[in-house]
Amino acid sequence: MLNKRKIRFGTIGCGNAGSYRTRTLAAHPLGVQISAVADLEMPNLDRLASTLGYDFVRYTGDQDYRRLIDENDLDAVGIFTPHALHYDHVKYAIRKGLHVLIEKPMVCGVANALEITRLMRESGKIGIVHYQRHYEEKYVKARELIKQGFLGDIKHFFIYMAQDWYGKTWRGEPELSGGGQINDSGSHYQDILLWMLNALPISAEGTIDSIYRGKKGKVEYNGSFNVELNNGANGRIIIISDIPGGFRDDVRIVGTKGSFLFQDNRLIFFDAQKNTYNDIPLRKPKNYPDSPCDNFVKMLYGKNRINRVPFIFGCRVALLTEAMLRSGHNNGKKIFCADILKESKHSLADLETE
Ligand SMILES: NC(=O)c1ccc[n+]([C@@H]2O[C@H](COP(=O)([O-])OP(=O)(O)OC[C@H]3O[C@@H](n4cnc5c(N)ncnc54)[C@H](O)[C@@H]3O)[C@@H](O)[C@H]2O)c1
Repeated sequence: MLNKRKIRFGTIGCGNAGSYRTRTLAAHPLGVQISAVADLEMPNLDRLASTLGYDFVRYTGDQDYRRLIDENDLDAVGIFTPHALHYDHVKYAIRKGLHVLIEKPMVCGVANALEITRLMRESGKIGIVHYQRHYEEKYVKARELIKQGFLGDIKHFFIYMAQDWYGKTWRGEPELSGGGQINDSGSHYQDILLWMLNALPISAEGTIDSIYRGKKGKVEYNGSFNVELNNGANGRIIIISDIPGGFRDDVRIVGTKGSFLFQDNRLIFFDAQKNTYNDIPLRKPKNYPDSPCDNFVKMLYGKNRINRVPFIFGCRVALLTEAMLRSGHNNGKKIFCADILKESKHSLADLETE
């Protein structure tokens, strides 16, 4: 897509995720030049420059993402800032005609997400959301097999994710977090469910609390929700922060012919007729990228044609997350996604196209 010159890349936010992604992009065999970086903390910029082994144009003001974009003749940016800031950052980048790699959750709220997705499509540039599970063999294979009808009709799902999530710094501030842990790590699970089943959310109902280690925080720490999808499946999503140490998850997809279970790097099929558990051999399709960063760089250089996480998936997650959060904040009232969409004059049909 681009000519032979190296991609000129700008990073907005080089905390944990931003510095890791930036280093991954810089180390990509096809080559990316990190030309400019914005972060509020100079030590973060120092650390990144030292690990990259070269310097870049630096910005530290909270509105300097605009200068970073305006002053550096960039091809692409990465947005790795706190959740509620993504919207302003990505909108500015798209308006200025840049390719964008953006961390999850793409933007908060489905109305914002649909607006950004429309702008991205109209720009004709590449926009990838950093949902790395789209590149994991077990999920890639499950999606492919589910599409082929391997599990029969999908009836139920069960998703449990527990992490010691203490909501420090901006994550614990409602105006930046945009929905606590339900919107943070939870976002990956809303995504992987909708992506594997290629389904849209219809409704969510459940409860939320803000308790972590016996203390009440300001954001949503724990939640448990019944969710209905437009393929007729329903199930439960449980997102927990208040566990001591570690991380664990359990994803199960149940169809009329059996179930998929996901363990470490394994995809296990429970055959309902034979009552057996068997591993499904895993191999990603040829040329399937390794990660969102790999997908992004290869697309920029015309070496990959398929975007594995276009912005529409960020919209679907934004919708389901919004329904879950609204229900939790309304005493468990069942929230219909179509009603949320109506508020911005949208409908589920706007989320259909991949
Ligand atoms: N895909 C994943 O598995 C994964 C893992 C971790 C984080 N993330 C995502 O990455 C993003 C950042 O999370 P993190 O853990 O790196 O947080 P972090 O606090 O480590 O980094 C955020 C950085 O953004 C900077 N920042 C804040 N406002 C800014 C502004 N206006 N302009 C420029 N920089 C600004 C801060 O100084 C900070 O260094 C979030 O969207 C988060 O959900 C994704």
